Amino acid sequence: MAKAKRYFFCHECGYQSSSWLGRCPECGKWNTFDEEVVERKQTNSSQSATHGGSHSEPVLIEQVKYDETERMQTHCGEFDRVLGGGIVPGSLLLLGGEPGIGKSTLLLQTALAMKGRRLLYVSGEESEQQIKMRADRIGKPQSEMYVVSETSTQRIFEHIEAVKPELLVVDSIQTVCSDDIDSSAGSISQIRECTTVFQRYAKMTGVPVLLIGHITKDGTLAGPKVMEHIVDAVLQFEGDRNYGFRILRALKNRFGSTAELGIFEMLSCGLREVPNPSEILLSQRDETLSGSAVSATLEGVRPIFIEVQSLVSSAVYGTPQRNANGFDLRRLSMLLAVLEKRCGFKLGAKDVFLNIAGGLRVSDPAIDLAVACSILSSNVDIPIPPTVCMAAEMGLNGEIRPVTRLEQRIAEAARLGFEKIFVSRYNTKGLEKHKYSINIVELAVIEEAFRSLFA
Ligand code: TYD
Ligand code: MG
Repeated sequence: MAKAKRYFFCHECGYQSSSWLGRCPECGKWNTFDEEVVERKQTNSSQSATHGGSHSEPVLIEQVKYDETERMQTHCGEFDRVLGGGIVPGSLLLLGGEPGIGKSTLLLQTALAMKGRRLLYVSGEESEQQIKMRADRIGKPQSEMYVVSETSTQRIFEHIEAVKPELLVVDSIQTVCSDDIDSSAGSISQIRECTTVFQRYAKMTGVPVLLIGHITKDGTLAGPKVMEHIVDAVLQFEGDRNYGFRILRALKNRFGSTAELGIFEMLSCGLREVPNPSEILLSQRDETLSGSAVSATLEGVRPIFIEVQSLVSSAVYGTPQRNANGFDLRRLSMLLAVLEKRCGFKLGAKDVFLNIAGGLRVSDPAIDLAVACSILSSNVDIPIPPTVCMAAEMGLNGEIRPVTRLEQRIAEAARLGFEKIFVSRYNTKGLEKHKYSINIVELAVIEEAFRSLFA
């Protein structure tokens, strides 16, 4: 006889408790506990089918054999790059992202392009007709792809039995539910159960499983911190929905680096890979306006040159406004304070608006100098020459600090046709400057940049 139990789960970290708690002892967050009725039925279905009968024994590590099966290529260069060269057989991947960002499109498109493979695309969100409509927009299928609209894991496994796919896509983990558990789809216990079932299936059969997961407003995967432990890789699809650019990054990857990054553009016929984002981002700028500076940033290991735009105007209200798109607001306040102290920038009397062009979000500290210079440029209303780019962090005293992989940034700047790059003086030890066709300007403090650009 099934026994209904009530549990409380922290929706931040998945901590389970038998009573309601005000503060989660695991993650320390307040008021995060939700009640769920969990009824585990006596099971004889998919679970036992997927792991029943197996037994394991410890083996000496030298004697562990694995076949040199190749990673499964997806024929989407950017996707393969993020995964570290393709999908590892038997792996369980989670693709997260805000609603409407293009997760379903990305996986559908990737699946359709996997020539000669037999795939099963399970959707709990769309009907077969809707998937077909979307597929028609994207193009002609290269793979042998089966689609089914289904939410019960038990029935999904029946479909798997029938199709015997080489790759399984589940859109999304929040919509599927297991009949073994009596709580609603999307609840922590359902998500945990379903993820575990798919993990077991992937490991037992060697068929990779791609799961789509939604992200909450504050940017965390909805509920399933618990999932992140179970899956082999967590990919995040992000970007500003009002712009075409989308970035795919690996937050966790058991079979590759998390430094790689894939860049796409959303078009009316699906996603297009963008192997050369800098050229597009920079082609859209007006070079004669003040307040614009180009930063040689790195996303992961990939150089991306982006334009930073600032607008500085006299504050109309008592409290000056600060606004930043794609840049940390607290970091902006800090940079402004430094500029006040070192460059006579009247902080309290000015509104400052900052925008990273293209809707990208940048966390590379090397963007600091470009942010500072674009603010100064807008403040004095003198444009920065379009052939100048910068790569340096700024310290609290206005000192210009070194950044990682400077050679790579300089080489890319030269390749893109820049004539000058501003870097930190402490960054150039051992740098063979004559090797580059670009003029490398070394700075120690922000005043030097100010004088060199606007004096
Ligand atoms: P979708 O993949 O449904 O997002 P998610 O699964 O992450 O919720 O993508 C939704 C958006 O993508 C939608 O607003 C329309 C846009 N889109 C295009 O611009 N071009 C296309 O070819 C497709 C299929 C979608
Ligand atoms: Mg979707």
